[in-house]
Amino acid sequence: PAANRGGGPKWRRRRDKMAAGGRYFCTAGRGLEPFLAREVRERLGAVEVDYVSGKVFFTTDAELSELKKLKSGERLFLLLKKRVPLPVSRSKGKMLHEIRSLVLEEPEDWLDVIATWRNLRGHEGKKDDVSQENPSPCKRKLEEEMNTATKRQKTEQVREIVSEECQAGAGENCAVPDRKSDQDCQTETQASFEDTSKSSGEKPVENEKHSFSFRVSCRCSGAIAKILTSQEIGRAAGIALMKQFGWRADLRDPDLEIFVHLNDIHSVMGIPLFRLPLANREYIKTAGLRSTIAWAMASLAEISVSAFVLDPMCGLGTILLEAAKEWPEACYLGIDISDSQLEGADANIKTAGLIDKIELLKASVKALPLPSESFDAVISDIPFGKKFKITKDTRLLPDILQEMERVLRVGGTIVLLLSQDLHKRMDGITKSVENESSPNAIPDGASETTAVKALNIDGNSSSLVKSVEEPFLSSRQTCFGSLMLDGIYEVSLGKTVAFIYKYRKISTAGN
Ligand SMILES: C[S@@+](CC[C@H](N)C(=O)[O-])C[C@H]1O[C@@H](n2cnc3c(N)ncnc32)[C@H](O)[C@@H]1O
Repeated sequence: PAANRGGGPKWRRRRDKMAAGGRYFCTAGRGLEPFLAREVRERLGAVEVDYVSGKVFFTTDAELSELKKLKSGERLFLLLKKRVPLPVSRSKGKMLHEIRSLVLEEPEDWLDVIATWRNLRGHEGKKDDVSQENPSPCKRKLEEEMNTATKRQKTEQVREIVSEECQAGAGENCAVPDRKSDQDCQTETQASFEDTSKSSGEKPVENEKHSFSFRVSCRCSGAIAKILTSQEIGRAAGIALMKQFGWRADLRDPDLEIFVHLNDIHSVMGIPLFRLPLANREYIKTAGLRSTIAWAMASLAEISVSAFVLDPMCGLGTILLEAAKEWPEACYLGIDISDSQLEGADANIKTAGLIDKIELLKASVKALPLPSESFDAVISDIPFGKKFKITKDTRLLPDILQEMERVLRVGGTIVLLLSQDLHKRMDGITKSVENESSPNAIPDGASETTAVKALNIDGNSSSLVKSVEEPFLSSRQTCFGSLMLDGIYEVSLGKTVAFIYKYRKISTAGN
């Protein structure tokens, strides 16, 4: 409870923290943080949920198998430390000292988190009693290790090995690493340190078999990145940990990875729980749209049991796959004009074991061979760019929208992903419809562009763009025919941004 967090003896605060479950953070693509915040609350019953750009923090006692089901996050970490940004000074020495202090302050916290990590990994989520009064064998081992290590006089030479990996994994939208901002696809530097105490003739410690290997991966941006490289930070953190706990360094196959993320917003340290990003779906053979975005779109469509759901430009079927995995009680239809895309979708559906849930059909979105008002939800990623040779077809957007509107039942939802160009175009379309003062358009007769105003995640007021957790701030609505705009969400596609539009059909098309 919040009341306990600030005060009380330290041992009780720690016991309360454990009773409440583990504290985690999960990285998310820009714009998906509110989706992930909602998901951890709903799926994991998480509490103390808060987020900043690119990260969602939460507390849960969910088991590892449940944590693995998160669909809108990228990488999941057990939180070791979250602090304010480190004070930046021009002196490298001072900065490195700050980093060592950050790493080593409250070493007991390391024991708690690593015990939680071992329990999660070792027993697939079975909870051990890790209270202060009755420490688990695992935690006792760690305490022994720490005591032995601090007693040990070490004369280590440090060898640094550096490699790089892309944080967001093999997503198709993974951007070129950007060191200036804390992007979702960023280069990380791993620094490792070899303890050469054995080769220097020192006797191996008694409990060496309990020790484990580790490596540090560091990502930094903002003011600190102007003073220190991520290698220097990772190295300082690694040496400090090695001296403190006596762990072995191993870049290639460590037992434990420690992530250090330093920027102008915060200083965060964590232990990743899974080797691969959560966004890498094992059930998707060939990736199309990024799975986290596909899932977020489907989550907006309000798919109920026995609903009929259509993607009329389904491509490889990612949206349908994500929706059918999460809401298997609905029926799904994918349409596309391209044979090769349909073949890819078919292979994906078979691999995912969803052939009894998803049907495919070759047709054009401009003339759907489907009865009017036959679907409860239409979800689609509207093509753009050279790949789909549809750049000049932005003027076809009203036709596409009209056909989607026709096949949708009253009360149903349309969820679309639009490029920036199409987003501008859509603005024009909805404005002009409004200016015609459609009888259904705006209940109070207003002719202003939009209703949707919300705070975006950086706290700036951003008209049109809505946070998934924010209510509308105005009752005025933007319409296209019988479709009422229900929200716009800006999301990152790596190098570019795109916009998720949600509409609800409020009356029969054309009325
Ligand atoms: C952006 S892609 C969809 C990607 C898809 N969401 C995925 O994950 O693979 C757009 C799709 O629209 C299809 N398309 C283009 N024009 C079309 C039309 N007139 N009717 C139906 N599909 C069309 C393209 O073949 C392409 O597969």
